[in-house]
Amino acid sequence: MLLHLSTWAEIEAQLAKSKAVVIPIGSNEQHGPTGLLGTDWLCPEIIAHEAQKIAPGLLVAPTFNIGMAQHHLDFPGTIALRPSTFMLAIGDWCRSLAHHGFEQLYFLNGHGGNVATIEAAFSELYAEASYAGRKAGYACKLKNWWDLKGVMRLAARQFPEGHGSHATPSEIAVTQWAYPHAIKSANYAPQIAPTGPIREAADFRGRYADGRMGSDPGQATPEKGGELVATAAAALIEDVAEFEREG
Ligand code: NI
Repeated sequence: MLLHLSTWAEIEAQLAKSKAVVIPIGSNEQHGPTGLLGTDWLCPEIIAHEAQKIAPGLLVAPTFNIGMAQHHLDFPGTIALRPSTFMLAIGDWCRSLAHHGFEQLYFLNGHGGNVATIEAAFSELYAEASYAGRKAGYACKLKNWWDLKGVMRLAARQFPEGHGSHATPSEIAVTQWAYPHAIKSANYAPQIAPTGPIREAADFRGRYADGRMGSDPGQATPEKGGELVATAAAALIEDVAEFEREG
């Protein structure tokens, strides 16, 4: 069930059955010479949308598609929120959903650079309740799509070398499966990109000329993407159910 294709009355009825909601969250940022700018928000969206087709009782909110990507700003097309802005926005998304009675807010994340800020935003929300001397009334959970059960093992089998950490063949394969008409190609030089630290945008562009980090996205195929999506979607359904059970 997709929130944006539902009416308020349908959401009211859904709340009588389940208080859980999945929010795909990511980033709109460069992903090397062949990766789509939307890769990090498309991956969790593709997986969550697939999961709700299999389990229609699973409610998926609109995708939060802009994240903490300041280090990619020297590549055109990147749109970023600074951590402080991102935290405020996450807070209001959570407050809005909690206001309606949602009690399990499950963020399915597609961007490693978001993790620290999302967790800090959750801590702010819990602190708000603690200092007011009340219960929050809801719980927040963050899960990276690649940490869903079975996904890392599958990706390691598909891409034993050159997986890397940015513009990875696994994330690019997922987008290729969902958007086959948007598949791009390039000659990678070097075939496997360098690795190193992440700092400000000018430093990043200096270290990683084409935007990749440690990866060889040339190994991505739509078929491999389809396998990843199937594994991740099944695991997501299971993980949200467990989150609901623990309250
Ligand atoms: Ni990515």
